[in-house]
Amino acid sequence: MTATTTLAEPLVREAAPSPAGPISEADLGALRTVPEIPLPRTAQVLRFSQRQIEFVFAWQRQLGDTFRFNGIVPGRPVITSHPDHVKSLFTARPEQAPSLTGESPLRPIVGPNSTLTAVGPRHMRQRKLLLPSFHGEAIAQYMQMIEEAAHREIDRWPTGKPFSLAPRMQAITLDVIMSGIFGIDGTPKPGTAEWGLRTAVRGLVEASTAPGAKIAEYMNVGRDEPVGLTKIGMEILDRPTYAVIAKRRKDPLLDSRTDIMSMLMRAETEDGERLDDRELRDELLTLVLAGHETTANSLSWTWERLVRFPDAYQRLNDAVRDDDDADTWIEATITEGMRARPVIPMIGRRVAVPWQLGEYGVAAGTPVTMSILLLHHREDVYPDPFGFRPERWLDAKPGTYTWIPFGGGIRRCVGASLAMAEQRVVLRAMVERLDLEADRPEPEHAQHRNVTMIPERGARVVARPA
Ligand code: HEM
Repeated sequence: MTATTTLAEPLVREAAPSPAGPISEADLGALRTVPEIPLPRTAQVLRFSQRQIEFVFAWQRQLGDTFRFNGIVPGRPVITSHPDHVKSLFTARPEQAPSLTGESPLRPIVGPNSTLTAVGPRHMRQRKLLLPSFHGEAIAQYMQMIEEAAHREIDRWPTGKPFSLAPRMQAITLDVIMSGIFGIDGTPKPGTAEWGLRTAVRGLVEASTAPGAKIAEYMNVGRDEPVGLTKIGMEILDRPTYAVIAKRRKDPLLDSRTDIMSMLMRAETEDGERLDDRELRDELLTLVLAGHETTANSLSWTWERLVRFPDAYQRLNDAVRDDDDADTWIEATITEGMRARPVIPMIGRRVAVPWQLGEYGVAAGTPVTMSILLLHHREDVYPDPFGFRPERWLDAKPGTYTWIPFGGGIRRCVGASLAMAEQRVVLRAMVERLDLEADRPEPEHAQHRNVTMIPERGARVVARPA
């Protein structure tokens, strides 16, 4: 699978064009139907949830860029990975290609009305309320706090024996998001409402890796309110969340506070409305859940790759420790990590009108998912796609439709700048302080958890002081 490239060749290229976008019913009839994976549904669901990476690559090799999958999402979604198809969906009018996150297993957890799960005008309303908390200036004030959280956590790591990075990264990113949202300095104090919430979130995330979690996840697909184990988990989470909201509403300093929760409490929509407790709860949980596990696993995957590609690791070490163009190499390494292992491997839209995807046509109402994983491994865009080559980003900017770990268009991840800032700071602190190596030479498989793809053994490494 590894392509040979010469130094003269660019390491990021453009794919040959493929027409895509809304079409008329008449044009739909003239196009071919998308090929289907010829396996029973149960086999597809099982193989997809067990070995997602291998599954999508295997079928792309047999069926091409665009094929149809019969999985958990109802309606036999089409999977595509051509940049022009992605562009057509990202640039479509919202009513022509609404997001599928409204139908994801996250919906019963964070409710149908959060920025992540809402569609249409409701989505734009929620998104506008959130955006000011995540722009560049707001992020700049978090930098020191992120650095402190990283060093506090690194101080506790074992040396000379194997451990998994993912839970350690989660401890950092949870502290960061909790500080940002609630304005707490460092880890919340035991006994406070915020401490209760942090403990409940950790419990929920850990429970989501337990054996029964997959069943709970499938039982909740397409629902507004949670059922089964998820319902119990949500009750445990809701109690401290509402306690935190009640406490902040009574805070005499609410008007001058700059944390995200206070800003959301004060925010008014264009119609002069404010968020009620349930809406606030949905947004806060969205931010905590969407914001910390993704970033933690993204960093873990970058390390899982780095420790298996010694040249890339050495180059980063040299740059950071000699302070020679360190920022450039840190950025390039994170960009390559997110290309090679996008934590959210697929995102989707439901086309409301007939759509062309290259030589194929799909009917109105079809869910179309973009495989970020397959797109990021296109050999015509990324020579040596299975390698780990941060240097490909030295002369190339990540393309809007070819590097999409944060999605795109009006649904692009609200927390992308915060996530990038966290990854930069934590990666640098780790490179400065530690020498890491893989506990085993073979790569870690991907495990599918809710909408994310995480390293099966949590990115296991052995650390030694630098
Ligand atoms: C490396 C870390 C992260 C990754 C890979 C990631 C990825 C994504 C992706 C793929 C989407 C869907 C985009 C689409 O459908 O086009 C998304 C949406 C979203 N993300 Fe992130 N995310 C990360 C971190 C964060 C953080 C730190 C926050 C907030 C604290 C956050 C909050 C959100 C929200 C609110 C949405 C919904 C946006 C909308 O639909 O308008 N994410 N993210």
